[in-house]
Amino acid sequence: MRLEHDADLTRLNTFGVRARTAVLAQFSSLDELRGLLAAPELKQRPRLVLGGGSNVLFTRDWPGVVLLNEIPGIALEREDEEHVWLRSGAGVVWNDLVMYTVERGWGGIENLSLIPGKVGAAPMQNIGAYGVELKDTFSALEALRLEDGAVVEFHAAECRFGYRESFFKHEGRDRFIITSLTLRLKKHGAPNTAYGAIRDVLAERGITDPTVRDVSEAVMNIRRSKLPDPAELGNAGSFFKNPMVPMAQAEALRRKHPGLVSYPAPGGLVKVAAGWLIEQAGWKGRYSGACGVHQDQALVLVNRGGASGQAIYDLSEQVLRSVWDRFGIALEREVNII
Ligand code: FAD
Ligand code: EPU
Repeated sequence: MRLEHDADLTRLNTFGVRARTAVLAQFSSLDELRGLLAAPELKQRPRLVLGGGSNVLFTRDWPGVVLLNEIPGIALEREDEEHVWLRSGAGVVWNDLVMYTVERGWGGIENLSLIPGKVGAAPMQNIGAYGVELKDTFSALEALRLEDGAVVEFHAAECRFGYRESFFKHEGRDRFIITSLTLRLKKHGAPNTAYGAIRDVLAERGITDPTVRDVSEAVMNIRRSKLPDPAELGNAGSFFKNPMVPMAQAEALRRKHPGLVSYPAPGGLVKVAAGWLIEQAGWKGRYSGACGVHQDQALVLVNRGGASGQAIYDLSEQVLRSVWDRFGIALEREVNII
């Protein structure tokens, strides 16, 4: 447990925006977390839990305590003929957990290779990539309820997972700190290669019967070619969600814009590629001072050094307005605005 007053958060958010917090506190166990929450000097302050800071945008300093989750540990909870139940501390780096499973040939999260951040934040937006979402292997999680300090177990139905959505992003926001996650993985993984780009990489490499590792490597390859590395260029991945629109609206849009990129979604809806909308609205590669829209992936807003969180937020507001004016679609931010 470590406490620091008036601490700098610049290195603790992948946008690399400058922000400070009144108190920064790290915790590596449930007991340490409980101790922090009970400490008289921290009790009345607003709390913000952070993992890797890869899905937040600080538009101001934080007046309370930032709690940095460092709870370690990966353990096999149980197994049967076909599955393993793997439990991870919420402070484990997500990709370390993925690599742990890939090394053992356990299937289920290899398509989620290289997503930045910590395990504890993964359920928050039901992380997803390349045809797989966290919910597909989710078994349970434990979270500390702030109002009474109780540890509560959540199963999938209670988490209300959706596309980049969960209970923790809405009713549960600021009320729970996720402390552990248990996944159910396949021992003899039949990897999910439904995503076209994965199949293309495997074909290029002449792989016809891919292993979990092959798929993980293909995904890492695709990601490295598309997404900017926050160590080199500040960003938080996709800034907006891909919007879901009714079929009739998608058809009307396609008549007007034959190039529209969209995919069928559950419930008779159509998922529209926000990156395409933003590119068509003329934003791709455009900068406003130090912040801008990435030149290869228009869904990613970037900070090339020194942009304030407010400037990035203002840019997102402009992008949002112009997509609305041009297409009548209201984009929704994926990144958590602080
Ligand atoms: P943080 O940014 O620290 O926190 C995010 C939110 O979760 C905050 O509101 C925070 O308060 C809350 N939170 C964090 N930890 C806990 C906890 N233990 N309990 C309760 N609440 C908590 N996301 C995808 O889904 N798919 C992708 O393909 C993807 N690609 C990305 C690529 C890049 C280059 C980057 C920078 C980001 C990408 N992301 C992607 C977004 C991001 O990596 C994920 O949302 C990730 O899960 C965030 O983890 P984190 O630990 O950094 O969360
Ligand atoms: N596109 C454009 N111009 C752009 C960007 C995209 O036209 O500048 C079009 C292209 O046609 C492209 C399509 O949009 O084929 C989809 O783009 P991409 O495959 O890059 O995926 P995405 O929809 O932009 C989503 C997730 C990513 C995830 C990838 C892979 C959301 C909001 N984003 O991006 O997640 O890694 O798919 O599954 O759903 C994140 O959440 O932070 C994130 C990076």
